[in-house]
Amino acid sequence: MAIEYRAERRTLTLLTDGSAYQMQLGALGYLLHLYYGPRCGDDLDYLHLPRDCGFSPNPHELTEGRGFSLDTLPQEYSGSNGADFRLPSVALETAAGVVGADLHVKSWEIRPGKYALAGLPASFAAEDEAETLAVTLSDEASGLEVELLYGVFPARDVITRAARIRNAGSERVTLRKAASACLDLPFGRWDFISFHGRHAMERQLERAPVRYGLQSAASRRGTSSHHNDPFTILCAHDATEDHGACYGLMPVYSGSHRTDVELDQGGSVRAVAGINPDGFSWRLLPGEAFETPELILAFSDEGLTGLSHRLHRFLRRNLIRGGEKQKRLPVLLNSWEACYFGVDEARMLALARGAKELGAGMLVLDDGWFANRFDDRRALGDWTVNREKFPGGLAGLHAKLEQEGMAFGLWVEPEMVSEDSALFRAHPDWALRVPGRPPALGRDQLVLDLGREEVAEYLHETLAALLRESGVCYVKWDMNRSICDVYSAALPPERQGEAAHRYMLGLYRLLDRLTGEFPEVLFEGCSGGGGRFDAGILAWCPQIWLSDDTDPIARLSIQQGASYGYPVAAVGAHVSASPNHQTGRTTPLGTRCTVAMAGSFGFELDPASLSEAEKAELCSQTAFFLRCRETIHNGLFYRLCAEDEAFTAWQFVAEDGHEALLTLVLKNPEANPAPLHLRLKGLDPAARYRLSDCAFFGCRNTPAALPRAEYSGAALLHAGLTLPQLLGDYPSARLLFEKL
Ligand code: DGJ
Repeated sequence: MAIEYRAERRTLTLLTDGSAYQMQLGALGYLLHLYYGPRCGDDLDYLHLPRDCGFSPNPHELTEGRGFSLDTLPQEYSGSNGADFRLPSVALETAAGVVGADLHVKSWEIRPGKYALAGLPASFAAEDEAETLAVTLSDEASGLEVELLYGVFPARDVITRAARIRNAGSERVTLRKAASACLDLPFGRWDFISFHGRHAMERQLERAPVRYGLQSAASRRGTSSHHNDPFTILCAHDATEDHGACYGLMPVYSGSHRTDVELDQGGSVRAVAGINPDGFSWRLLPGEAFETPELILAFSDEGLTGLSHRLHRFLRRNLIRGGEKQKRLPVLLNSWEACYFGVDEARMLALARGAKELGAGMLVLDDGWFANRFDDRRALGDWTVNREKFPGGLAGLHAKLEQEGMAFGLWVEPEMVSEDSALFRAHPDWALRVPGRPPALGRDQLVLDLGREEVAEYLHETLAALLRESGVCYVKWDMNRSICDVYSAALPPERQGEAAHRYMLGLYRLLDRLTGEFPEVLFEGCSGGGGRFDAGILAWCPQIWLSDDTDPIARLSIQQGASYGYPVAAVGAHVSASPNHQTGRTTPLGTRCTVAMAGSFGFELDPASLSEAEKAELCSQTAFFLRCRETIHNGLFYRLCAEDEAFTAWQFVAEDGHEALLTLVLKNPEANPAPLHLRLKGLDPAARYRLSDCAFFGCRNTPAALPRAEYSGAALLHAGLTLPQLLGDYPSARLLFEKL
């Protein structure tokens, strides 16, 4: 039983193998949060003693003293405009002007299996893998009912949450905020970890103690954004990679989001996460319901690595659909950095032949193949192949690629429209724009109103025809601007606050339909790199292009940042040319491979620019990646050092432990350096390991060979390993240990 009710103390406990989450059907009908942490086998209401706190109001019904206040007690889903002055989870107003909600428990129920959400991406479970707790709260004054949904995955140490909000009254209600969940941590000292960034420099980790007042990680861009990953962590102030309590909060959502964290007067921390309430509203007529996106909550008391492992496994097994396609996917070469808009059939065939020499098995035709798309100022929306560039059409190119023994993949950017396009000329009102105001252009393009039925229908038909015609087995689904001027010509004035979320629902439905109808095609997400790298998109796209910055040194912090929440297999990463097109930095070929290997591993360069020796090196790197792909993608990932060290080292351990791959990149070579020493992780201390592959790349010196070919697991774990001195610009090392 993953969910226990104990009548004596009226507690409901959600149990996973390594955690317990407890709430209480508390006094006066309030649903109180009691605890989330390691399992304790007890009722934990004794922790929350009556407390008369100045300026914290008491419920009218309280008969004795002033010790009970919503302002001081931990809650499961906070109301608004009531006695709790901390972060609200739900905010609303009724036609009669009633503002806010005071939520009391109406009923609760334990259900087998995992709840589902209509129209939203959500985790899934086999029948016996999860249980659902549904607690219905109601607000008398507005007639609102909130069904709190908890999915409990015992073997994953994961609890998912969502709220189904229903207007059970007789008047309309307008939601102003509808968070997915609220998490109160009443005791302890906590740090907040978030991942900020910008285009081409996403997912930079920031860790700071939670301070009094508010801090947030949010996006108002209509996408999860390059700027603030929706995934955040609350961890014990002294938590490290290997020790301490860590909570991961991962919204399964790709639009504007916000996670607020507040430290209150009594030292209690509250996190509230979900759709960004800025600009959001949703009108509910009597009987109508609104479902919030899901929030994945994971707990680890084994530090940040333990948290990452739980989330990686959960996302791979219980969220991402079609991940097994990655195992069959050939290594690809993408045309973008090789020729940008200068694509045509002859160049693609030349790229394909070159790609084959690198061991790649698929050519991806990126931007520039359709209509008059000679640059990024025109043609988005006109998804017909340019016959001057591709006389045989996409089917013709596919046939020729097949003759070369290469698979075919295609880039599209369906959510967008250029003003200079036949589509825009025919349907100017299909673009989001505020009447009477010229819309802001992003990369010279506008955003289609995907919340509109006919727009989504048109895109579905167009894309389905394109996929059938081209016969591709891979699609790169791009999205290259932030969304502003949000106004839908199809919605009445009082529903304009719904447009941004309706856009997301339209996008999800489109992805759901297409991935269902083309089950063999692997869809890779992209938004100018990592502008929409999130759990919502991952539900349909097993991998997402992580960043438009392909510089391997810049990628170290971007990929490491992503690794806290997202599995390695989800990370789109390619080997590109040097000097790098984004940073101008020169790096060794082997180091570029070492970094791209911690992801999907592909190419983003013109093989014709490579020497024969470089081609041979890339071919052997491809073979090595394919040899280790299962361990890299589906094993356990370890970060071996902090951001501020001179090197970055990562380790991948096969899920069954039979091998471990260690990679290291030197960011700052120093004169007369201290020994390069590391302790490995995740090995079997009782086993012996043979160093079956050891390679150094980009060194100016000849690194000394490692003195031993065999080590005990305990030695590598506790005493560690010393690597030889590596000199040069960004050298790297790759070591494979096989368990004997
Ligand atoms: C942005 C993507 O991130 C790039 O990889 C490339 O596909 C371009 N768009 C094409 O316009």
